[in-house]
Amino acid sequence: MAQIIDGKRISKEIKDELKEKVAKLNEMGKTIALAVIQVGNDPASSVYVGNKKKACEYIGIQSLAYELPEDAKEEELLGLIDTLNKNDKVHGILVQLPLPKHMDEDKVIKAIAPEKDVDGFHPQSVGALSIGQPGFVSCTPAGVIQLLKRSNIDIEGKECVVLGRSNIVGKPMALLLLRENGTVTICHSRTSDLKEVTKRADILVVAIGKPKFIDASYVKEGATVIDVGIHRNEQNKLCGDVDFESVEKVAGAITPVPGGVGPMTIAMLMHNCVEAYEFAHNK
Ligand code: GUN
Repeated sequence: MAQIIDGKRISKEIKDELKEKVAKLNEMGKTIALAVIQVGNDPASSVYVGNKKKACEYIGIQSLAYELPEDAKEEELLGLIDTLNKNDKVHGILVQLPLPKHMDEDKVIKAIAPEKDVDGFHPQSVGALSIGQPGFVSCTPAGVIQLLKRSNIDIEGKECVVLGRSNIVGKPMALLLLRENGTVTICHSRTSDLKEVTKRADILVVAIGKPKFIDASYVKEGATVIDVGIHRNEQNKLCGDVDFESVEKVAGAITPVPGGVGPMTIAMLMHNCVEAYEFAHNK
């Protein structure tokens, strides 16, 4: 039976470390603030934004909520970002995605000051990661690295396969595994012999966005399998990109859905907020 990597426990561990650090700052009268902008009221986005606010509260970070109507003009959002960029009391800025169709997401992300880009989505943050310079790292892949490290799973020298090539998960995930001295392959929906590639992996990170796509036949005996996917099945139950029941029989370690990668994203967002504060005050 595979070791179950407990993302809930590990994310709590990280949040508690941050809480202690932030409490010391608060005692000195220093506050960290995260601005969260939501445009429209997509129900899933409202849940994510709510969870981010709760995490801020738990850690002692001030969360500033900005809600714009679905039909708000792009200029209005850009104006708000500009104001927040110039406000020294705001350390992190997060625009919840997706945005309404009439807004240009790339343009909006680019408008956020890179030193406040706690999501790690700004081209400058992505560029810094790719050339090994300091900058914010996208929260989900950063969370996967923490899951591995805190479960004592070595990355150095290992065959790491990332299934999926999105800007938010797949690409930064590959760069982070490379930074940890893994031997990294990226594969995707157009890879010709997918099984041949995934079966080489000592560490397989799955972010393909297809429910239960990876079964045991894609996995090498003893491999670590990290499932980034999250879907609701016909019975309204959560499941990942990995067929957990099938893969846990061959894997050495595996993340469940829910309770694996999911809770790590917010923990790493909180980590980035603290880093943004430190950056602002040590520059
Ligand atoms: N929408 C879904 N996930 C995310 C995320 O991590 N950050 C932002 N800004 N929007 C999202």
